[in-house]
Amino acid sequence: MKPVVLVTRKLPDAVEARLRRDYEARLNPTDTLYSAEQIIERAQGADAILPCHTEKFTAEVIARLPKSVRAIANFSVGYDHVDVAAAKARGLVVTNTPDVLSDATAELTLMLMLGAARRASEGERLVRTRQWKDWSPSFMVGTQMTGKRLGILGMGRVGRVTARRARGFEMEIHYNDLHRLPAELEEGAIFHPAPEDLMPHCDFLAIHCVASPETHKLVNAKLISRLPKGAIVVNASRGSVVDDDALIAALKSGHLAAAGLDVYNDEPDIKPGYRELTNAFLMPHIGSATRETRDAMGFRALDNLDAIFAGRQPKDRVA
Ligand code: DGY
Repeated sequence: MKPVVLVTRKLPDAVEARLRRDYEARLNPTDTLYSAEQIIERAQGADAILPCHTEKFTAEVIARLPKSVRAIANFSVGYDHVDVAAAKARGLVVTNTPDVLSDATAELTLMLMLGAARRASEGERLVRTRQWKDWSPSFMVGTQMTGKRLGILGMGRVGRVTARRARGFEMEIHYNDLHRLPAELEEGAIFHPAPEDLMPHCDFLAIHCVASPETHKLVNAKLISRLPKGAIVVNASRGSVVDDDALIAALKSGHLAAAGLDVYNDEPDIKPGYRELTNAFLMPHIGSATRETRDAMGFRALDNLDAIFAGRQPKDRVA
């Protein structure tokens, strides 16, 4: 008998085809966002769940999952939507999908940097609303990226690809992480032992650290005040790393020239203040949204499930 897998969202066709071939897949063709109650109900008799970051597995939800569920194989690199301690205590195997989305997310990060620096939202709006009237030397002047300093907060897989791509813009790379990286991963980037030390070196700050209690609101008013005036902040990791009120205040006051954001607290009901800022370039959490990457994420989640049901250790076990 094939193991039963509850899939919470509509996945790419090729991924669903493999799911149907190898599992008794409970798919979600209408891509309805399931509530916790619906997940618990639909998971009755399932051996595993394949969710996205849009489904929250709190300690309470985990405690109420049917006993048949052995694993949560996430379709995401981030797993802050899963209470890992509760999952461990319950004996659930939890996996994620690292590596396969680093290129797509780094591309999006560069887009956030360029979009924020060159005022892409404003420009697009002017053209679309027929308010573009003229050209002048002072019209829509932004910030140049080439040759500037890029600070990376969290030099993991995505951070390192972002650094590599940014070197194409002759940027000088600075970073902070828990530990200094070995030279072959650092690739000449300059290490700063604490986030506060990194800030003064950032013309651009790219946030790539994982969401955790330690990084909650790490980018707050105090940290932002240490950035040079006119700096640009971009975030393609998780909204919880940023104190929204502090970021909005710095964008309003002009301390920061602009921000490029793909992730937010309380998505999709983001802090209304962001929508009013002309110097914020806002994307709807699409860092990994390329056809290639979404297929690869699905296959990676399935590789993990295959290993679990074959009695092997899944490659991307996080609990
Ligand atoms: C991830 O993989 O963590 C992306 O944010 C999409 O969930």
